[in-house]
Amino acid sequence: MKDYQFLQQKYMVQTYPNRKVTFVEGDGVFLMDTNAQRYLDLMTNYGVTIFGYNHPEITNSLQRQLERIVTLHGSFANDVRAEASEALVKRCGADYAQVYFSNSGAEANEAALKFAVLKTGKKKFLVARHGYHGKTLGALSATDAEKYKTPFAPLLWEFIPVPFNDPEALEQAIDKNVAGFFIEPIQGEGGIFVADKTYLQKVREICTKHSILLIVDEIQTGTGRTGKFLASAGITADILCLGKGLAGGIPVGATLVNKETAESVPKGIHTSTFGGNPLACAGILAVLRLLNTEQLKHVETMGKYFLNELSKLKSPVIVEARGSGLMLGLEVRAEMRNRILQLLQKEFVLTIPAGENVVRFLPPFIIQKEHVDLAITKLQKILEGL
Ligand SMILES: Cc1ncc(COP(=O)(O)O)c(C=O)c1O
Repeated sequence: MKDYQFLQQKYMVQTYPNRKVTFVEGDGVFLMDTNAQRYLDLMTNYGVTIFGYNHPEITNSLQRQLERIVTLHGSFANDVRAEASEALVKRCGADYAQVYFSNSGAEANEAALKFAVLKTGKKKFLVARHGYHGKTLGALSATDAEKYKTPFAPLLWEFIPVPFNDPEALEQAIDKNVAGFFIEPIQGEGGIFVADKTYLQKVREICTKHSILLIVDEIQTGTGRTGKFLASAGITADILCLGKGLAGGIPVGATLVNKETAESVPKGIHTSTFGGNPLACAGILAVLRLLNTEQLKHVETMGKYFLNELSKLKSPVIVEARGSGLMLGLEVRAEMRNRILQLLQKEFVLTIPAGENVVRFLPPFIIQKEHVDLAITKLQKILEGL
């Protein structure tokens, strides 16, 4: 058999850490390596494969679309794209008017930044401390992580971090030059920090009071991850960004805007060859069909069960279990985090890091109690052996 580890190391620019396992197939909540060893996937490729691998509804929808049209430029209309845009805008709530489709989370945020500048004429943004919005230059500018930014300084415009979950700090930081505030309802990459119950509501009120745009990045939290279609349900952003699992695993970004913002975007100013391609749109329609009330309830139930089981774990290494829905984190003593990830992988359970000291769980929405129990048993065994 070819040495795929070697080939990938040799021919790909080495920007990713190497997890030292080669996966060749997936089935439901499992990934299979080259020896047909099954691994329980509790990471869904950083939140993308939300219905696991080879979900029949998604596979069939994509297959059907593959045989019709894969790509069609946005200057032409297309049945599936038209249906997907209508379905997504309506699903996000009555105050969203239109969507711009792109191909990744970072691109969804790039569009958000440009639309915000077009709407306000301003180029100063407030962002949350430890927020993460992607690694393209605009999204990186909005990200509060020096380790990713330093080599590329100076970055774009003016981005001022304010503490997360602190409405007063946000209000104090606003001046007449601020275009908008960029926020994740749960900070994912930053370490699974959940917005307090009233925080987003207060943020909405402050943004409205001072006439700045509220830009909500739901790339990780959205599309059902917390047991609601949007984690920001109950408030309406001026600009809302989605991505990750929205198209059933096909690359996608979506930037939703209200009517006033939509009207300030002129033709031709921001486009993407692949944005809104019919294949991704078929994925979006399949995902929206699957994310019915029953499925969202299942995410909520499984999330509560998983968090409760994590909270019951006993170990001096554990600092805290937290999260919402199926977006969970186990904060541990910093020096132990990577060791726990490695040991879980040795036990055929896949998780990912968040922040400096958090084991992150982003399981597929089809996860069952038995899978949670399996993960908890392995985790308990690992913690006892540390
Ligand atoms: C909240 C948030 N925004 C933006 C991004 C960037 O998405 P992508 O990696 O698809 O560019 C991510 C990715 O993890 C994310 O979690």
